[in-house]
Amino acid sequence: MPPKPYDILFEPVKIGPLTAKNRFYQVPHCNGGGYRDPSAAAAMRGIKAEGGWGVIFTEQTEMHHTSEITPFIELRLWDDRDIPALNRMSEAMKAHGALAGIQLAYSGINGPNLYTKEVPLAPSALPIRTFTNDPVQARALDKSDIRDLRRWFVNAAKRSKLAGFDLLCLYGAHGFGIFQHFLSRATNQRSDEYGGSLENRARFVNEVVGDIRDAVGDTMAITLRVSLDETLGDLGFSNAEVREFIEMNADLPDLWDLAQGTWEDCSGPSRFKEEAAQEVLVKGIRELTSKPVVGVGRFTSPDVMARLVRQGTLDFIGCARPSIADPFLPKKVEEGRIEDIRECIGCNICVTGDMTMSISRCTQNPTFMEEWRKGWHPERMNAKGSSSNVLVVGSGPAGLEAARALSLRGYDVALAEAGTELGGRVAKERLLPGLSAWGRVADYRAYQLSQRPNVETYFDSPLSAEDILEFGFENVCLATGAKWRADGVSRQHVVPMPIDPGMAVLTPDDLMDGRLPSGKVTVFDDDHYYMGGVLAELCAREGCDVTLVTPSAYVSDWTLNTLEQAEIHRRLVAAGVKIVLNTGIAAIRADGVETCCSYTDARGHLGCDAVVMVASRTGQDEVFRALKAREADWQDAGIKSVKLIGDAEAPGPIAWATYAGHRYARELDGAPIGDALPFRREITELA
Ligand SMILES: Cc1cc2nc3c(=O)[nH]c(=O)nc-3n(C[C@H](O)[C@H](O)[C@H](O)COP(=O)(O)O)c2cc1C
Ligand code: SF4
Repeated sequence: MPPKPYDILFEPVKIGPLTAKNRFYQVPHCNGGGYRDPSAAAAMRGIKAEGGWGVIFTEQTEMHHTSEITPFIELRLWDDRDIPALNRMSEAMKAHGALAGIQLAYSGINGPNLYTKEVPLAPSALPIRTFTNDPVQARALDKSDIRDLRRWFVNAAKRSKLAGFDLLCLYGAHGFGIFQHFLSRATNQRSDEYGGSLENRARFVNEVVGDIRDAVGDTMAITLRVSLDETLGDLGFSNAEVREFIEMNADLPDLWDLAQGTWEDCSGPSRFKEEAAQEVLVKGIRELTSKPVVGVGRFTSPDVMARLVRQGTLDFIGCARPSIADPFLPKKVEEGRIEDIRECIGCNICVTGDMTMSISRCTQNPTFMEEWRKGWHPERMNAKGSSSNVLVVGSGPAGLEAARALSLRGYDVALAEAGTELGGRVAKERLLPGLSAWGRVADYRAYQLSQRPNVETYFDSPLSAEDILEFGFENVCLATGAKWRADGVSRQHVVPMPIDPGMAVLTPDDLMDGRLPSGKVTVFDDDHYYMGGVLAELCAREGCDVTLVTPSAYVSDWTLNTLEQAEIHRRLVAAGVKIVLNTGIAAIRADGVETCCSYTDARGHLGCDAVVMVASRTGQDEVFRALKAREADWQDAGIKSVKLIGDAEAPGPIAWATYAGHRYARELDGAPIGDALPFRREITELA
């Protein structure tokens, strides 16, 4: 029996002809694997089934070859040959009693068709609207195209059924799905019976739902995913019009799946959005329909989830990121193990897998997308190897994750921290503007370690190679972190830049240690992830007159991949930060910086009192190198292995560090694999 306050979350709920076993609903999310890595994607969904989700969806599935979003790697359902891979996924989803859902996407004005070379089709002839501004335009669907498109949806629905799915999600959200393109006046400028009034704009979705219901509606449930607000002002599909649409079509789908607005809004990072951020947009909609409603909002708190159900706002708790960070979230709630929930930190590293067409990662759950490739399970470790104990030096994300996972494997673990608190970089970064939720990386692991009898933590313990040789642990894992460089070495400068000692140059470490600049400050960002933007905001908040200079065309360039970039720019402008793009720093003078155009090298001067140097980091590997130099002494000291991991080995985002810690723990005492690949790979069969 689930504990009392949360039992409401475990009630079965009907969706059309089917019943979900509980209210935990994994909404569609991509994983960077898609059609390229079908078994990896299927195994990932299978783990969620094991973790207790009542409904589990695929990512968006391109349902016809005339609309695809290359270079992004999603699923495909173009002909019968796609059925076996999708069937593998649906079987994995259903293995523990969940309903298996497939999201059918026809991308319309969002599909550039770079791979199929087909002319894109959309309600109105407009340029394709993509992240990459592809120089392609869509042709307006004529009446016979609309008839074809209706038939293609029916074909896709029938194939979905053959592939073993229970639920269909018609994608009309985030500006990505054709149903939204028809519903919105911005993208539907037609003058026939499919355009104009809301009734006309809703005609297409009504026809498709009717067609699909006739074809498979007796056994499959049809869900419709729409955005709660297109955020295009009066022209777009606004929250008021969404409500009107739902009221007019109250019983159209078997379930209303309500996403937030644009993808940036809907998957809003914790820097800018709290848990349940869409509550005001969704409140009251359930009263307009007799069909169940699912909503999202980076839900990690079962109290918030239960409240939203109890107060009648939602029937299902929709989760993408919380289900990635902790696929076992429902099971943990059911078993009353609330402290064991590995809460999503809202960093959107999972989104970068999709945006960079690689395979996704998760900062909190290093096993994400490694369930099949490496056989990693988020809750279970492999059996302990031949040795008994490990000294982990450093309690940042890598060291903490290594200690946690090693202790689960059964090793005796000593965790040595040079300072007085756990978390390493996270302990400091969590205090920066907007980053407090990132502290969950440390909090989750600190709690887990506190519950393990085989872990001892030692604070105030900076260790030398000599100390370590004296201790006699069999395995030594050095997770000693990294420090920001002050000499400007990064992308623009591969050797130190000229710096006049008369100028105050501060690194992110200085600022995080409380040494804040004052007066006129130049923040030089040649790192391009979040730190430059965050520190510019911090300095502005502290009353400095801030100019952010970056050689890139965008502020915090790489955050385009985490869906944060536009909001970062907006916030910096609002905070009064002056932004200088496409500009490097040639030299730092006593009275300011000498700037240089990224394209022409044209020079300029920017006067300032201090420079905040957000360049690159250096791994702190001194102890590792000292130990390596004394390899001859290891045997006498009882040491079998010494390994450097995480930022100390090669600085990167936090997700890279938790992955490194987890990998270390998994592979300790493993048999050498020689030159073999360290993961499984699926290879396309030759035609
Ligand atoms: C990595 C990632 C991929 C996503 N891919 C899709 C998708 O394919 N289709 C879709 O409708 N929504 C997609 N979304 C949006 C989610 O379904 C969800 O609406 C959003 O992330 C908010 O829910 P959350 O706060 O629980 O993450 C994706 C979200 C993430 C984080
Ligand atoms: S990568 Fe970050 S945002 Fe995505 S699920 Fe993991 S913790 Fe959450």
